[in-house]
Amino acid sequence: MNKLNQKNPWIEYWSTDHIWSHSAFWRKQMEVFIRLTSNIMDYSETDTILDFGCGSGHFAEIMSHRIGSIVCADMSENYIQLCANKFANVSNVNVVEVKPDLSDLYKVGTAFNKVICFSVVHYFPDIDCVTRFLKGIQNIIVPGGKLLIGDIGNNKRSLNDYIKAVLFTLRQGMFLDALRLMTKVTLSDPDYSKIKQGGNSYLHIPDSYFMDISRELGIEITFLSSQLTVNSNYKHVLVEY
Ligand SMILES: C[S@@+](CC[C@H](N)C(=O)[O-])C[C@H]1O[C@@H](n2cnc3c(N)ncnc32)[C@H](O)[C@@H]1O
Repeated sequence: MNKLNQKNPWIEYWSTDHIWSHSAFWRKQMEVFIRLTSNIMDYSETDTILDFGCGSGHFAEIMSHRIGSIVCADMSENYIQLCANKFANVSNVNVVEVKPDLSDLYKVGTAFNKVICFSVVHYFPDIDCVTRFLKGIQNIIVPGGKLLIGDIGNNKRSLNDYIKAVLFTLRQGMFLDALRLMTKVTLSDPDYSKIKQGGNSYLHIPDSYFMDISRELGIEITFLSSQLTVNSNYKHVLVEY
Protein backbone atom coordinates (compact mmCIF):
# COMPACT_ATOMS: atom_id res chain seq x y z
CA MET A 1 0.00 0.00 0.00
CA ASN A 2 1.50 3.38 -0.92
CA LYS A 3 1.41 6.60 1.14
CA LEU A 4 -1.74 7.84 -0.60
CA ASN A 5 -3.65 4.60 0.15
CA GLN A 6 -2.73 4.75 3.84
CA LYS A 7 -4.08 8.28 3.99
CA ASN A 8 -7.22 7.40 2.09
CA PRO A 9 -8.94 4.03 2.71
CA TRP A 10 -11.49 4.80 -0.03
CA ILE A 11 -8.93 4.08 -2.76
CA GLU A 12 -8.73 0.47 -1.59
CA TYR A 13 -12.50 0.27 -1.01
CA TRP A 14 -13.40 1.36 -4.55
CA SER A 15 -10.79 -0.96 -6.05
CA THR A 16 -12.76 -4.06 -4.99
CA ASP A 17 -16.11 -5.41 -6.11
CA HIS A 18 -18.99 -4.72 -3.70
CA ILE A 19 -22.71 -4.03 -3.45
CA TRP A 20 -22.54 -0.63 -5.20
CA SER A 21 -21.26 -2.22 -8.44
CA HIS A 22 -24.66 -3.76 -9.19
CA SER A 23 -27.01 -1.57 -7.18
CA ALA A 24 -30.48 -0.96 -8.66
CA PHE A 25 -30.91 1.89 -6.20
CA TRP A 26 -27.72 3.65 -7.28
CA ARG A 27 -28.69 3.29 -10.94
CA LYS A 28 -32.12 4.84 -10.22
CA GLN A 29 -30.43 7.62 -8.24
CA MET A 30 -28.43 8.49 -11.37
CA GLU A 31 -31.61 8.47 -13.50
CA VAL A 32 -33.27 10.84 -11.05
CA PHE A 33 -30.21 13.10 -10.85
CA ILE A 34 -30.06 13.35 -14.65
CA ARG A 35 -33.77 14.16 -14.83
CA LEU A 36 -33.65 16.79 -12.08
CA THR A 37 -30.62 18.55 -13.60
CA SER A 38 -31.54 18.24 -17.27
CA ASN A 39 -32.69 21.88 -17.45
CA ILE A 40 -29.23 22.97 -16.28
CA MET A 41 -27.20 20.56 -18.40
CA ASP A 42 -29.42 20.75 -21.49
CA TYR A 43 -28.09 17.49 -22.98
CA SER A 44 -27.98 17.18 -26.75
CA GLU A 45 -26.68 14.85 -29.44
CA THR A 46 -23.73 17.15 -30.11
CA ASP A 47 -22.41 16.81 -26.54
CA THR A 48 -18.94 15.46 -25.83
CA ILE A 49 -19.12 14.43 -22.20
CA LEU A 50 -16.64 13.25 -19.59
CA ASP A 51 -18.06 11.20 -16.71
CA PHE A 52 -15.31 11.47 -14.10
CA GLY A 53 -15.48 8.81 -11.38
CA CYS A 54 -17.87 6.81 -13.56
CA GLY A 55 -18.11 3.77 -11.28
CA SER A 56 -20.14 1.09 -13.04
CA GLY A 57 -21.05 3.50 -15.85
CA HIS A 58 -24.67 4.32 -15.01
CA PHE A 59 -24.47 7.75 -16.63
CA ALA A 60 -23.25 6.33 -19.95
CA GLU A 61 -25.77 3.49 -19.78
CA ILE A 62 -28.64 5.95 -19.49
CA MET A 63 -27.33 8.69 -21.81
CA SER A 64 -25.19 7.15 -24.57
CA HIS A 65 -28.08 7.04 -27.06
CA ARG A 66 -28.98 10.69 -26.38
CA ILE A 67 -25.59 12.38 -26.72
CA GLY A 68 -22.60 12.53 -29.07
CA SER A 69 -19.95 10.75 -27.05
CA ILE A 70 -18.96 9.90 -23.49
CA VAL A 71 -15.62 9.16 -21.87
CA CYS A 72 -15.98 7.14 -18.67
CA ALA A 73 -12.96 7.70 -16.39
CA ASP A 74 -12.22 6.14 -13.02
CA MET A 75 -9.25 5.24 -10.82
CA SER A 76 -10.66 1.82 -9.99
CA GLU A 77 -9.34 -1.04 -12.13
CA ASN A 78 -12.40 -3.02 -11.06
CA TYR A 79 -14.87 -0.42 -12.38
CA ILE A 80 -12.77 0.22 -15.48
CA GLN A 81 -12.91 -3.47 -16.33
CA LEU A 82 -16.64 -3.57 -15.65
CA CYS A 83 -17.24 -0.54 -17.92
CA ALA A 84 -14.88 -1.84 -20.62
CA ASN A 85 -16.97 -5.04 -20.79
CA LYS A 86 -20.28 -3.19 -20.57
CA PHE A 87 -19.48 -0.72 -23.37
CA ALA A 88 -17.31 -2.96 -25.56
CA ASN A 89 -19.87 -2.70 -28.37
CA VAL A 90 -21.04 0.87 -27.79
CA SER A 91 -19.16 2.97 -30.31
CA ASN A 92 -19.61 6.40 -28.65
CA VAL A 93 -18.45 5.34 -25.16
CA ASN A 94 -14.74 5.13 -24.29
CA VAL A 95 -13.34 3.96 -20.98
CA VAL A 96 -10.12 5.35 -19.47
CA GLU A 97 -8.33 4.44 -16.24
CA VAL A 98 -6.79 7.39 -14.37
CA LYS A 99 -4.54 7.68 -11.31
CA PRO A 100 -6.14 8.59 -7.97
CA ASP A 101 -3.89 11.63 -7.55
CA LEU A 102 -5.32 13.34 -10.67
CA SER A 103 -1.84 13.65 -12.19
CA ASP A 104 -2.85 12.14 -15.53
CA LEU A 105 -6.19 13.79 -16.23
CA TYR A 106 -4.92 14.74 -19.70
CA LYS A 107 -5.30 11.03 -20.64
CA VAL A 108 -9.09 11.33 -20.85
CA GLY A 109 -8.96 13.57 -23.94
CA THR A 110 -9.90 17.18 -24.71
CA ALA A 111 -12.65 19.46 -25.99
CA PHE A 112 -15.39 18.21 -23.68
CA ASN A 113 -18.34 20.58 -23.44
CA LYS A 114 -19.80 18.94 -20.32
CA VAL A 115 -18.31 17.04 -17.40
CA ILE A 116 -20.23 15.02 -14.83
CA CYS A 117 -18.67 14.11 -11.52
CA PHE A 118 -21.27 12.42 -9.34
CA SER A 119 -20.54 11.32 -5.78
CA VAL A 120 -16.78 11.38 -6.24
CA VAL A 121 -14.85 14.41 -4.91
CA HIS A 122 -15.38 13.67 -1.19
CA TYR A 123 -13.35 10.48 -1.79
CA PHE A 124 -10.35 12.52 -2.95
CA PRO A 125 -7.43 12.33 -0.48
CA ASP A 126 -6.98 16.07 0.01
CA ILE A 127 -8.11 19.51 -1.10
CA ASP A 128 -5.11 19.88 -3.43
CA CYS A 129 -6.61 17.04 -5.47
CA VAL A 130 -9.84 19.02 -5.86
CA THR A 131 -7.81 22.00 -7.08
CA ARG A 132 -5.86 19.74 -9.47
CA PHE A 133 -9.19 18.40 -10.70
CA LEU A 134 -10.74 21.83 -11.31
CA LYS A 135 -7.57 23.09 -13.01
CA GLY A 136 -7.22 19.89 -15.02
CA ILE A 137 -10.79 20.18 -16.26
CA GLN A 138 -10.08 23.79 -17.27
CA ASN A 139 -7.44 22.42 -19.67
CA ILE A 140 -9.74 19.88 -21.32
CA ILE A 141 -13.11 21.62 -21.41
CA VAL A 142 -14.18 24.12 -24.07
CA PRO A 143 -14.75 27.76 -23.03
CA GLY A 144 -18.31 28.01 -21.69
CA GLY A 145 -18.28 24.29 -20.80
CA LYS A 146 -20.10 23.02 -17.70
CA LEU A 147 -18.87 20.77 -14.93
CA LEU A 148 -21.57 19.40 -12.62
CA ILE A 149 -20.19 18.09 -9.33
CA GLY A 150 -23.06 16.24 -7.72
CA ASP A 151 -23.67 14.67 -4.32
CA ILE A 152 -20.63 16.07 -2.47
CA GLY A 153 -20.67 14.22 0.86
CA ASN A 154 -20.26 15.56 4.38
CA ASN A 155 -20.74 14.35 7.94
CA LYS A 156 -23.63 16.62 8.89
CA ARG A 157 -26.80 14.52 8.69
CA SER A 158 -29.59 15.68 10.99
CA LEU A 159 -32.90 14.00 11.85
CA ASN A 160 -34.50 16.35 9.34
CA ASP A 161 -32.12 15.03 6.63
CA TYR A 162 -33.18 11.44 7.39
CA ILE A 163 -36.85 12.44 7.01
CA LYS A 164 -36.09 14.27 3.75
CA ALA A 165 -34.20 11.19 2.52
CA VAL A 166 -37.19 8.91 3.10
CA LEU A 167 -39.59 11.41 1.48
CA PHE A 168 -37.26 11.76 -1.52
CA THR A 169 -37.14 7.98 -2.09
CA LEU A 170 -40.96 7.82 -1.84
CA ARG A 171 -41.39 10.77 -4.23
CA GLN A 172 -38.93 9.35 -6.76
CA GLY A 173 -40.29 5.79 -6.55
CA MET A 174 -37.16 4.20 -5.13
CA PHE A 175 -38.08 3.56 -1.51
CA LEU A 176 -37.92 -0.24 -1.77
CA ASP A 177 -34.62 -0.12 -3.68
CA ALA A 178 -33.18 2.12 -0.95
CA LEU A 179 -34.41 -0.25 1.75
CA ARG A 180 -32.87 -3.22 -0.08
CA LEU A 181 -29.55 -1.40 -0.44
CA MET A 182 -29.44 -0.37 3.22
CA THR A 183 -30.14 -3.97 4.24
CA LYS A 184 -27.36 -5.24 1.96
CA VAL A 185 -24.92 -2.62 3.28
CA THR A 186 -25.68 -3.66 6.85
CA LEU A 187 -25.58 -7.40 6.27
CA SER A 188 -22.93 -7.91 3.65
CA ASP A 189 -20.65 -4.86 3.45
CA PRO A 190 -19.44 -4.01 6.98
CA ASP A 191 -16.34 -2.32 5.50
CA TYR A 192 -18.46 0.49 4.05
CA SER A 193 -19.77 1.83 7.38
CA LYS A 194 -16.42 1.18 9.05
CA ILE A 195 -14.59 3.28 6.46
CA LYS A 196 -17.32 5.92 6.12
CA GLN A 197 -17.46 6.67 9.87
CA GLY A 198 -20.70 8.59 9.45
CA GLY A 199 -19.00 10.76 6.82
CA ASN A 200 -16.02 11.63 9.01
CA SER A 201 -13.62 10.03 6.52
CA TYR A 202 -14.95 12.18 3.68
CA LEU A 203 -12.82 15.04 2.45
CA HIS A 204 -14.24 18.23 3.96
CA ILE A 205 -14.68 20.87 1.24
CA PRO A 206 -15.92 24.14 2.73
CA ASP A 207 -18.13 26.43 0.63
CA SER A 208 -15.45 29.11 0.99
CA TYR A 209 -13.03 26.82 -0.90
CA PHE A 210 -15.28 26.99 -3.97
CA MET A 211 -15.62 30.76 -3.70
CA ASP A 212 -11.82 31.18 -3.45
CA ILE A 213 -11.03 28.84 -6.34
CA SER A 214 -13.71 30.54 -8.42
CA ARG A 215 -11.80 33.81 -8.11
CA GLU A 216 -8.40 32.15 -8.64
CA LEU A 217 -9.38 30.31 -11.81
CA GLY A 218 -11.91 32.81 -13.12
CA ILE A 219 -14.69 30.23 -13.15
CA GLU A 220 -18.32 30.66 -12.16
CA ILE A 221 -19.57 28.57 -9.26
CA THR A 222 -23.23 28.02 -8.41
CA PHE A 223 -24.49 25.95 -5.48
CA LEU A 224 -27.66 24.17 -6.55
CA SER A 225 -30.22 24.57 -3.82
CA SER A 226 -32.87 21.90 -4.54
CA GLN A 227 -32.65 18.33 -3.26
CA LEU A 228 -31.25 16.28 -6.15
CA THR A 229 -30.34 13.06 -4.37
CA VAL A 230 -31.42 10.99 -1.40
CA ASN A 231 -28.68 12.76 0.60
CA SER A 232 -30.44 16.02 1.36
CA ASN A 233 -27.43 17.34 3.29
CA TYR A 234 -25.01 16.83 0.36
CA LYS A 235 -24.00 19.70 -1.93
CA HIS A 236 -24.18 20.05 -5.71
CA VAL A 237 -21.97 22.53 -7.49
CA LEU A 238 -22.20 23.76 -11.07
CA VAL A 239 -18.92 25.08 -12.45
CA GLU A 240 -18.96 27.16 -15.63
CA TYR A 241 -15.61 27.64 -17.36
C1 LIG B 1 -19.84 6.40 -5.15
S1 LIG B 1 -18.97 5.90 -6.58
C2 LIG B 1 -19.84 6.87 -7.80
C3 LIG B 1 -19.80 6.22 -9.16
C4 LIG B 1 -20.59 6.92 -10.25
N1 LIG B 1 -20.26 8.31 -10.38
C5 LIG B 1 -22.07 6.72 -10.04
O1 LIG B 1 -22.73 7.64 -9.61
O2 LIG B 1 -22.56 5.62 -10.27
C6 LIG B 1 -17.43 6.78 -6.45
C7 LIG B 1 -16.52 6.55 -7.64
O3 LIG B 1 -15.51 7.55 -7.64
C8 LIG B 1 -14.30 6.95 -8.04
N2 LIG B 1 -13.20 7.81 -7.55
C9 LIG B 1 -12.96 8.19 -6.28
N3 LIG B 1 -11.84 8.94 -6.22
C10 LIG B 1 -11.36 9.03 -7.49
C11 LIG B 1 -10.21 9.68 -8.07
N4 LIG B 1 -9.33 10.32 -7.33
N5 LIG B 1 -10.01 9.56 -9.40
C12 LIG B 1 -10.91 8.87 -10.17
N6 LIG B 1 -12.00 8.23 -9.67
C13 LIG B 1 -12.23 8.32 -8.34
C14 LIG B 1 -14.35 5.58 -7.37
O4 LIG B 1 -13.42 4.68 -7.93
C15 LIG B 1 -15.80 5.20 -7.60
O5 LIG B 1 -15.97 4.54 -8.82
